Amino acid sequence: MAVISIANAKGGSGKTTAAVLLATELAQRGLRTALLDCDELKLAASWVRAARLGEGLTLLDNVAVFNLAAHLKTLRSSHDHVIIDLSGARDALVAFAAGLSDLVLVPVQGCAMDSRGAAHVLELIELVSANAHVPIKRAVVLSRVNPLVTTRALRNVKAVLDAARIPVVGTPVIERSAFRDMFETGGTLYSMNGGRVSNLDKAILNMQVLADDVLRLVGVEEASKIWARAVPAAPARVGLPSPAPVGLPAAP
Ligand SMILES: Nc1ncnc2c1ncn2[C@@H]1O[C@H](COP(=O)(O)OP(=O)(O)OP(=O)(O)O)[C@@H](O)[C@H]1O
Ligand SMILES: [Mg+2]
Repeated sequence: MAVISIANAKGGSGKTTAAVLLATELAQRGLRTALLDCDELKLAASWVRAARLGEGLTLLDNVAVFNLAAHLKTLRSSHDHVIIDLSGARDALVAFAAGLSDLVLVPVQGCAMDSRGAAHVLELIELVSANAHVPIKRAVVLSRVNPLVTTRALRNVKAVLDAARIPVVGTPVIERSAFRDMFETGGTLYSMNGGRVSNLDKAILNMQVLADDVLRLVGVEEASKIWARAVPAAPARVGLPSPAPVGLPAAP
């Protein structure tokens, strides 16, 4: 089982959106997935209840420092993946979750890089990792990237992260109305009406390729093992005719 936490002390950086996209996609592939909502606002939990994913996605929203390890222990035998949506608080739960994670994803807005919140979480991960003598894998996910933004702006952000030797997930989360609408309509991208939501196919492809990248990051062996089991249930890729990965926008 892989535990993936999503953290950034900066509010509104796209943590819950990334958590819900990953949980949707992993569950859609038939992977036994749990989503742990650690934010008091419980936006992810409300979405899971409204999305009616049934047994496809386990929801836990009573997570605290004193019970997180026990929750993970229970889930270990019955789940393939646990996604932890953390709040923007700088509290012990964030540090504890990071310490128990196989991967911590830190969403950072692609063009107006708010490095402060991200830097705080990344420093915290280093600290927990050093104190516990366990390496904690972490990576930045560029989030809310404008599909029309110039490649130069994004390259600058990537250069800053590269210089700090912070890995960046290859697929950014593009700014898409579908990613906002899913919280309002209460469905998943797969249940939305493509006639009513603009660029739904691109949004779905973005989510799929992001999930591929994250699975690869949690470990090739793990990912291939999971895929072997998931393939029969995996949906046909919805999206552009060519399976071009959603990467940085094309050069102008
Ligand atoms: N890729 C995206 N495309 C469109 N809207 C987005 C995207 N990512 C986030 N948003 C919107 O930005 C707002 C903040 O996103 P989100 O709730 O995911 O951030 P967060 O980091 O979880 O915030 P918080 O710190 O308050 O928990 C929401 O209204 C969400 O719908
Ligand atoms: Mg949130």
